[in-house]
Amino acid sequence: MNRFQDFYLPPAKSTVAADTDALFNFVHITSLIFLIGIVAAIFYFVYKYKRRSEHDVTPVITHNNALEITWSVIPFILVMIVFGWGFRGYLNLRTAPTDAYEVRAIGKKWLWEFRYANGFVSVGELHVPEDRPIKLIMNSTDVIHSFYVPDYRIKRDVLPGRYSSVWFEATEPGESTVFCTEYCGTAHSNMMAKVVVHTKEDFETWMATAALADAGLPPVELGQQLVQRNACQTCHSIDGSALQGPTFKGIFGRQQKMEDGTVVTVDENYIRQSILQPQSQIVEGYLPVMPPYQGTLNDDQISAIIEYLKTID
Ligand code: CUA
Repeated sequence: MNRFQDFYLPPAKSTVAADTDALFNFVHITSLIFLIGIVAAIFYFVYKYKRRSEHDVTPVITHNNALEITWSVIPFILVMIVFGWGFRGYLNLRTAPTDAYEVRAIGKKWLWEFRYANGFVSVGELHVPEDRPIKLIMNSTDVIHSFYVPDYRIKRDVLPGRYSSVWFEATEPGESTVFCTEYCGTAHSNMMAKVVVHTKEDFETWMATAALADAGLPPVELGQQLVQRNACQTCHSIDGSALQGPTFKGIFGRQQKMEDGTVVTVDENYIRQSILQPQSQIVEGYLPVMPPYQGTLNDDQISAIIEYLKTID
């Protein structure tokens, strides 16, 4: 049964999941019953009314009131149940509880960024407490993305130039995957993040320490963590292979041929500029696909990343 459950639906880890699944099951099972009934009737009638002799004549039947009312009223009732149930669920999904904890979510090609009330910014990881409604206020900085967490049964488009929101309440500590479910270009299928659900106490601790955790780390170590946290390796390898972007291996001091034919030497200012406004200088052979980190990373963080990049050779 467990293996069937895993195959059938993702684990239900939010307060709204049970109701959504129940409606899904209702539609599914009702359809299955009708399918089996109709197919069985077809075979039965094929056998019962098959032509048995030369003299068989099909009787002329124009209509049958009882039958027609039955097959109109029963589906009508079923459809109205699905409508009422679905509409109630839809309203619930659209209306965040007023005491919801608010987090800003920003979608850009191709990452998810989360901003908390205390100013902490995390990329690729959304940290939330269990048993507390969370409201995400979302927007995109470029094209349309869509925020989808199968475990929570929630999905909402994320748009440039306006806010949209979605809410959920996680019922257990653990991790769930966020997918982008609106095709948004080359690395759309890699545009993932995870929701990390903490117990209430752990979340308080995380909130209190997250913003401070970086202080006191040696720059190289901090830089390495920032590269991981911002998912830079999705597009930049450290082993020399070419992905969406140039490799980090031996990047510092490298002679780089640019799209406009000039050759530049990779130094501190080049890296800084490439992080803040990547579109302003494109390496030959690559597409202008990197998201700008202006406003996401501050000067100290950028300096740390530069120090880390110097060590990759
Ligand atoms: Cu973002 Cu697909």
